[in-house]
Amino acid sequence: MQQQLANILAEATAAAPAIAARPDFEAFKARVAGPNGTLTAAMKSMAAVPKADKPAAGKLLNQTKGELEKLFAATLARVEQNEIAARLGPPIDPSLPSPDDEAGSLHPLTQVREEVCGVFRKLGFTVADGPEIETEWFCFDALNTPASHPARDMQDTLFFPAATRCPDAPKHASEAYLLRSHTSSVQIRTMLKQPPPVRIVAPGRCFRRDTADATHSANFHQIEGLWADKNVTLRDLKSILDFFVREMFGSSAQIRLRPSFFPFTEPSFEMDLKSPNLGRLSDRWLEIMGCGLVNPKVFENVGIDPAQWTGLAFGVGLERIAMLLHGIDDIRHFYANDLRFLRQFASAV
Ligand code: DAH
Repeated sequence: MQQQLANILAEATAAAPAIAARPDFEAFKARVAGPNGTLTAAMKSMAAVPKADKPAAGKLLNQTKGELEKLFAATLARVEQNEIAARLGPPIDPSLPSPDDEAGSLHPLTQVREEVCGVFRKLGFTVADGPEIETEWFCFDALNTPASHPARDMQDTLFFPAATRCPDAPKHASEAYLLRSHTSSVQIRTMLKQPPPVRIVAPGRCFRRDTADATHSANFHQIEGLWADKNVTLRDLKSILDFFVREMFGSSAQIRLRPSFFPFTEPSFEMDLKSPNLGRLSDRWLEIMGCGLVNPKVFENVGIDPAQWTGLAFGVGLERIAMLLHGIDDIRHFYANDLRFLRQFASAV
């Protein structure tokens, strides 16, 4: 019996490596474990083993069976691999050049976003992020924007239906979810996570019901900036923005701060840009961003002591910058995915 089992295992082990296809495997398995198989015969011959030897013989039989099962499984796995390889055909070399004539490239808005973030990185800013679906508190209340403010109006802000009022915001139970109308909400999210000093830029998608002309879109992008620290002044704001504009538009670009109003900054400004290199928009003042010094109310709303901390903030439309840089006159080009438009930016990276 012992010899018989050893022979069965040895023969099967010797035969297995040559088996490559499924019919061979089936035949191989049948020769051992089929009705007329060698292992089946060995099992039948157990009946003839003297009673005293049965436990040892049974144990050996089970061991051999286990070994053979492992051998079948490994052989079948190899057969299956062969089948998959045959279906896939010859291996692909991903390092070969693409059959298309051009490599892909980054979207112009992505390129400009990275450029802007790169400029602020040089000034020690890091990049922060926040959700596109916001609650009223993050987008408005915390930013000192009262319920009566026109920005909250249904005309501008895209609200979710009343049924989706935020159940998990017990402090502000009557809040609604909305698509953020600006990236200023990331100021709040950042300061709640990380007390000052904070220096961040937050690029992101914003939404407004605002499609009045070719320079507006219901879906657009902004980059928000926040620097909260001790003794941040208007001079810091002006010099940062000056640096930003010169890096983006060249050293002959100039800026001007014009008094304005935003609930979250005091004082607030519109920043205008003038540059000789902007085609037909050259040499005139163009409004490009809102900015100001962080309103102490905003600090209070996130539990930061306004007696100790000061800050500056700004928000700029990414499309606006990209349109000025590249002389694009219709914002919809950015979203149409027309390759004739996109290919013009392929070499810019
Ligand atoms: N959130 C403003 C908007 O969407 C832009 C803005 C203005 C952001 C002034 C600021 C700021 O951080 O200080 O129009």
